[in-house]
Amino acid sequence: MAVNTNFYGERTILMIPGPSELHPEVQKVLATPIVAHYGPDWTPVYEDALRLAAAIFKTKSEVFMMPTPGTVGLETGVVSLLEPGDKAVALVNGYFGQRLAEIAEMTGAEVLKVVADEGGFVPPEKLEEALKRNPGVKAVLAVQNETSTGVLNPIKEYSKIARERDALFLLDAISSYGGVELDFDGWGLDYCVGYANKCLGSIPGTIPVALSERAWEAFRRRKTKPRSFFTNLGVWRHYMDAWKGIGHPYPTTISPHAVLCFRAAAQAALDEGLEARYRRHVLVAAAFRKAVRAMGLETLPAEEVASPTVTAIALPSTVWKDAAKINQVMLRKHRIMIGAGIASLSGKIIRVGHMCVTASSRYILPTLSALRDSFNEVGLSLNDGTGVFSKEISGRA
Ligand SMILES: Cc1ncc(COP(=O)(O)O)c(C=O)c1O
Repeated sequence: MAVNTNFYGERTILMIPGPSELHPEVQKVLATPIVAHYGPDWTPVYEDALRLAAAIFKTKSEVFMMPTPGTVGLETGVVSLLEPGDKAVALVNGYFGQRLAEIAEMTGAEVLKVVADEGGFVPPEKLEEALKRNPGVKAVLAVQNETSTGVLNPIKEYSKIARERDALFLLDAISSYGGVELDFDGWGLDYCVGYANKCLGSIPGTIPVALSERAWEAFRRRKTKPRSFFTNLGVWRHYMDAWKGIGHPYPTTISPHAVLCFRAAAQAALDEGLEARYRRHVLVAAAFRKAVRAMGLETLPAEEVASPTVTAIALPSTVWKDAAKINQVMLRKHRIMIGAGIASLSGKIIRVGHMCVTASSRYILPTLSALRDSFNEVGLSLNDGTGVFSKEISGRA
C-alpha cells in the first residue's frame, strides 16, 4: 500500500511565485463583514493603508491604491508618462521586462531595449552607454525582481544612472515589494508599482503605487492628453482631489476587503521589521538554492543576482520531456503547487516562490522532499536536500 505523505489534507500549498500563501493576519480580516469603500468610517482605514504602503516603499511622495492587477498599475505609469515623440529605455532580462517594453511601445514612444540573456542581467554600464548614445531619453523602465528567471536586478545602480541623465525611473516591484530592499526616495525612483499578494501575503485585488513630484511634473508637461480614462494619471489626480472629501479618492469602486487585507499584511510586515524581513528572504532563498544544488540540480541565475523571493531551477535536458509531469506530481501527489517556466523557458525550468510566510522551513522542507520524490517519478534520482537546508537555516526561519 502506498504511504500517504499528504500531511496537508486536500489543501494545496502555493509555492508558486504568486499567488502566495496568505499571512494569518489577512486570513482573519477575510472573515469580517463587508464595509463601504467610501465615507467617514472608511477614510481613516484607507489613509492608514497608504501610510503603511508608503513606509514599505520608503517614501514621502504620493502613494495611492488601484483596484487592479499589477500590470494595470504599470500600464498607468507608462501610458501617462510616455507619448509619441518620447524616447524610453527598457531593461529586459525576462518575460516581465519584455512586457513592460511592449506596453511602452504601444504608447508610440521610441523604445530602446537593452537586453540580457535569461538568467543574466543588464550590467549598469550598458544602461549608461545607452543613455549616453541616446540623449533626451525621458524614462528608464525596469523590473526589480524578474519573476520569470529568478533574477534580482541592481535597481539602485540603474536608478542612479537614470537620475544623472535626468531620465525618469519607472519600476515594477511586483514580486519584490515587502520582501526585498526597496528605497523609493533614497534611490530617486519616480513611479513604482508594489503588490498586495506575493511578498506581502495579502489577497490580490489592490496594488500600491508610489509616484514622485517629478513624475507629476512630467505628466503635466505632456504635449498630448493620454487617450484612456482608467489608466490616465490625470483622471486619478482629479478624483484624488475632487472626491477626497467623501472618502473616495479614486475614480471607481475599490475592493474594501482588498484594502483591509493589504493594511493587515503591511502592518504585519512592518511589525516583523523590514530589514529583518529582507534578511529572512535572503537567508531562506540562499539555503534553498544550496539545498537544490546539493540534491544534484542547478539554479538558473548566477548566485550574485539570484532572487530572494523566487528560485528558478534548471531542469537537466534529460527530463525536459517530463517537465509538466514534475509539476503534476508535486500538485496531485504532494499538494504543493510550484511554477513552470514561461515563454522561451517553458519546459526547461521550474520555479519555486518563497515569499512572505513561505520563506520559512515550515514550507521549504516539505517542498524539498516532494521535489526529490517528483524527480524520482520521472526517473531522476536526487540526493536529499532537507539536511543541507536545515543546517543552513539552523532554526532562524
Ligand atoms: C515582475 C512581475 N511583473 C508583473 C506581473 C504581472 O502582475 P499581474 O498579473 O498582477 O498583472 C508579475 C506577476 O507575476 C510579476 O511577477
